[in-house]
Amino acid sequence: MDKIKVGILGATGTVGQRFVQLLQDHPWFEITALAASKASAGRPYGEVCRWKVSAEMPSAVRDMMVEECAPGLDCELVFSALPGEVAGPIEENLAIAGYFVSSNAKNHRLDPDVPLLIPEVNPDHIQIIEHQRRQRSWERGFIVTSPNCSVTPLALALKPLQDSFGLTTVMVTTMQAISGAGYPGLPSWDILGNIIPYIRGEEEKVEAESLKLLGRLEANEFQSAPIAISAQCNRVNTVEGHLEAVSVRLGRKKGTTPPTTEAVVEALRSFTALPQELELPSAPRQPIVVREEIDRPQPRYDCDQGGGMAVVVGRVRECPVLDYKFMVLGHNTIRGAAGGSILNAELLVAKGYLSA
Ligand SMILES: NC(=O)c1ccc[n+]([C@@H]2O[C@H](COP(=O)([O-])OP(=O)(O)OC[C@H]3O[C@@H](n4cnc5c(N)ncnc54)[C@H](OP(=O)(O)O)[C@@H]3O)[C@@H](O)[C@H]2O)c1
Repeated sequence: MDKIKVGILGATGTVGQRFVQLLQDHPWFEITALAASKASAGRPYGEVCRWKVSAEMPSAVRDMMVEECAPGLDCELVFSALPGEVAGPIEENLAIAGYFVSSNAKNHRLDPDVPLLIPEVNPDHIQIIEHQRRQRSWERGFIVTSPNCSVTPLALALKPLQDSFGLTTVMVTTMQAISGAGYPGLPSWDILGNIIPYIRGEEEKVEAESLKLLGRLEANEFQSAPIAISAQCNRVNTVEGHLEAVSVRLGRKKGTTPPTTEAVVEALRSFTALPQELELPSAPRQPIVVREEIDRPQPRYDCDQGGGMAVVVGRVRECPVLDYKFMVLGHNTIRGAAGGSILNAELLVAKGYLSA
């Protein structure tokens, strides 16, 4: 098949650079447009981008001219890595102009006609796209969104537990890497040797987005999952990979005992879903890797598992307050951002919503 032309909004930023890296040899997509703020527009990408990915900047993008984030971009699909302060209207204008928009920004995630998508968790939610087009009188364009970077590993780990046993209660404490705040992010004075027990808006996002993802789509309406969820979010002094401590109460009938630890581990480890069945190019073979060691997962050693697209669970054990507790780790700029958005777009191609 002909490759689909894609553009990246916010291409010079932390997530934008990941898009460039992950899309450079993509079998279905080809980068044909790079866009950023007015300050970068009109200059070559290699000149304005402070490249922070450990691999070399791909030579194909070095001389590409950065453009403004507006209709006129030579592409059909745009991946948005724009800050929430500006993403909303820019993404809408592009969808109105007929572009397919796959966004990482917070702005449209909770819109009642926009899918918030993790292909392993709620692939059926893409069906709302037709409704979105009708509601907004958009003939061709649409918006799909990826969750917040700490929601993705959490929702991926909760999904097999919800499917196998049911879930009633979730408590999560996140330890989020500094790259999650973009570049240049936090002053070193604030974060070196420190933990900041507050990330603006994050706990609300974790709670609301998880319930939308794990909820159902019925008659073009999203029904939040009936789960009590409480999040505490912290910025810690790691570079990449969000680590989360999770406790869950599983759904069960009164008087019955919870499943064994082995059964919980097996449900996590054996989990596969539609992206694996469809063999989507960015889908990890095993979306959840379970580590047996008592001191894993650790961001430095485990966040690149499955090319950064797998989440890593460890320390699965009984919880004396709820039923079970465990740690989960996800790569925030890959599975939690660019890689997740690319997987969303691959699902849309496989389901016929996108073509060259
Ligand atoms: N970092 C993560 O781990 C992560 C994970 C999931 C989701 N996200 C979300 O992804 C988005 C991008 O985050 P980031 O961490 O990559 O941020 P970042 O490093 O600060 O990059 C921001 C990008 O947006 C561009 N930009 C800034 N203001 C603009 C404007 N007025 N018009 C057009 N472009 C503008 C910047 O271009 P210039 O270089 O020209 O200024 C840059 O390319 C945010 O919505 C964030 O919440 C981030």
